[in-house]
Amino acid sequence: PADIQGDLTEVLLSEAEIQVRIAELCREIERDYQGRPLLLVGVLKGAVMVMADLSRELRRDVEIDWMAVSSYGAGTESSGVVRILKDLDTDLTDRHVLIVEDIVDSGLTLSWLRENLSSRGAASVEICALLRKPEAAKVDVDARYVGFEIPNHFVVGYGLDYAERYRNLRAVGILSPHVYS
Ligand code: PRP
Ligand code: MN
Ligand code: MG
Repeated sequence: PADIQGDLTEVLLSEAEIQVRIAELCREIERDYQGRPLLLVGVLKGAVMVMADLSRELRRDVEIDWMAVSSYGAGTESSGVVRILKDLDTDLTDRHVLIVEDIVDSGLTLSWLRENLSSRGAASVEICALLRKPEAAKVDVDARYVGFEIPNHFVVGYGLDYAERYRNLRAVGILSPHVYS
């Protein structure tokens, strides 16, 4: 359908709310990484929108690189199997790395990714995620920067997809069950 808003039961976070929170996170990141070169690592594809807005809101120089990992496929449940589909182009030795993600859901992707990047000799590896679902956690992920904690519903928009759709919504909303049942 052309009207993707109609596939949502509820808008959880408006475009404006998201932008205000991203600006707040950026002020924290600027303070915490003052005087240190910073490498932002975005996790394709969900993190594209957060990376675009967060990196442009930062009032400092950064490098940006991307990894593609997949744990979901086309379903709504995490399989727990993490695969590298595209690796970084950057050598992480002695680098300060900030992983940029759309969501910590079960936490399986980010706990695996943090371990993986830390093992490459980075000076530090921290996590910035726009969303976190505390009730869905299967492993504990220590994310230093979290935008919003949200209830355990299947959410889409602002990078988050269902079967590759809805990523281009500017808001984050709960996907209506009629779409996937
Ligand atoms: C989603 C989301 C996170 C991950 C979170 O990515 O973007 O990367 O799942 O889930 P977890 O905490 O349970 O591991 P997905 O695998 O759907 O790929 P995508 O970013 O390309 O949509
Ligand atoms: Mn993802
Ligand atoms: Mg996905």
